[in-house]
Amino acid sequence: MANETNELWTAVDSYIHDTVARNDEALDAAVKANAAAGLPTIDVTASQGKFLHVLALAKGAKRVLEVGTLGGYSTIWLARALPRGGRVVTLEYEPKHAEVARANLKRAGLAKKVEIHVGAAADSLARLHGEGARPFDLIFIDADKPNNAVYLDWALKLAKPGTLIVVDNVVREGALADAASVDPAIVGTRAMFERMANEPRLVATAVQTVGSKGYDGFAIAVVVSD
Ligand SMILES: C[S@@+](CC[C@H](N)C(=O)[O-])C[C@H]1O[C@@H](n2cnc3c(N)ncnc32)[C@H](O)[C@@H]1O
Repeated sequence: MANETNELWTAVDSYIHDTVARNDEALDAAVKANAAAGLPTIDVTASQGKFLHVLALAKGAKRVLEVGTLGGYSTIWLARALPRGGRVVTLEYEPKHAEVARANLKRAGLAKKVEIHVGAAADSLARLHGEGARPFDLIFIDADKPNNAVYLDWALKLAKPGTLIVVDNVVREGALADAASVDPAIVGTRAMFERMANEPRLVATAVQTVGSKGYDGFAIAVVVSD
């Protein structure tokens, strides 16, 4: 049954890809380059990348912050939604991932729209804040899940009223519901949910998703006050 379910989710993802969320040449090339470089296949799917793209367009985002670049697949979807002069600042720990992302972004014609900061995201976020970075319109958190609550705190410092905050992989095949879990990814993600629930500046929810990469979900929040 589980296999049949996964096959169905994958078939539906393929349909969504083939109709409204198609990878073009640059996105296909990024997927291939990531595989050739041995990067893990933990990037968002095409339908999810397009979802981020639609959110950025709907928001009229000019400045996007991404925590967790990998090979830049989601970065391409986000950067393509920005107007002339728009900027994605994306944070990546692994120099090799950043190097592959840089090449993927260049091939996609987006090198000038994207800054990649290499290093631990918590350090990069502290530096951006310390340097007085202007607030971001959309913040996508998709790095090491144990630090999700830490990243949410930094996101709030780098946001303004109206900023959208999206956090990927929060459901983790349902493990999110396990209050007794000692998995650091679940502990960190549940801590992030607690912060979202208790933060008066945020209105938040989460949606469960299925697809070619399994059963998971996004949390999404909007900043409603200073
Ligand atoms: C799920 S992948 C990002 C996928 C990407 N957003 C996409 O959909 O194409 C997570 C990335 O976060 C990076 N990462 C892990 N720990 C990190 C940290 N402490 N600081 C910055 N990046 C980190 C990993 O190296 C990996 O490339």
